[in-house]
Amino acid sequence: MWKKYFKKHLKRKPREQLVQAVSFCTNKKNALDLGAGTLIESKFLIKKGFKNVIAIDNAPEVKEFVNNFNNKKLILKNISFQKYNFPKKRFDLINAQFSLPFYGKKDFNSFIKKVKNSLVIKGIFVGQFFGKKDSWNDGKKEIAFHTKNQVHKLLSNMKILKFAEKEKEGKTASGNLKHWHIFYFIAQRNK
Ligand SMILES: C[S@@+](CC[C@H](N)C(=O)[O-])C[C@H]1O[C@@H](n2cnc3c(N)ncnc32)[C@H](O)[C@@H]1O
Repeated sequence: MWKKYFKKHLKRKPREQLVQAVSFCTNKKNALDLGAGTLIESKFLIKKGFKNVIAIDNAPEVKEFVNNFNNKKLILKNISFQKYNFPKKRFDLINAQFSLPFYGKKDFNSFIKKVKNSLVIKGIFVGQFFGKKDSWNDGKKEIAFHTKNQVHKLLSNMKILKFAEKEKEGKTASGNLKHWHIFYFIAQRNK
């Protein structure tokens, strides 16, 4: 399903939003990369000083991306978000680049609750939610879409450090035209 996407994202730079999020981190012990894909962001986190990075992604291809990177600090769990047993108060940073909405609609709120509870106090959560005006929101796909209000509720009890809502015409990794509606956030666990 993600083959074309991975091919396109093999050699790019780490995403700017994560670079920014790391600058908010006071401790760099444990990080979680949800939907790690080609592992560019996971490897970047190790380079930036994180001692342990857990990458979760259920696509079979992801195992290939870890093969030539022999570093004990990176642990790949080739399982779904649904199967991962989120530990409480563990991670200094949770990165989720363009991956959260693919969890699907069912139990999405409790998924995000588990993610937030997995952060240490002051831990940073960075990623995106998809907006309702996204052209993938055709009622047929197992992808979660939200209004701005709903996004703020998902991030409740967190300090919002950065927030942006963006809409643009663009293309998918397969080259199909689409309307993107995305909420970008960097948030910090308060309590
Ligand atoms: C759009 S890609 C983003 C990959 C990478 N974070 C990036 O920014 O290039 C979404 C990733 O999430 C993974 N993914 C989607 N749904 C998942 C799920 N339910 N459990 C685990 N991984 C999932 C896919 O396999 C894919 O690698």
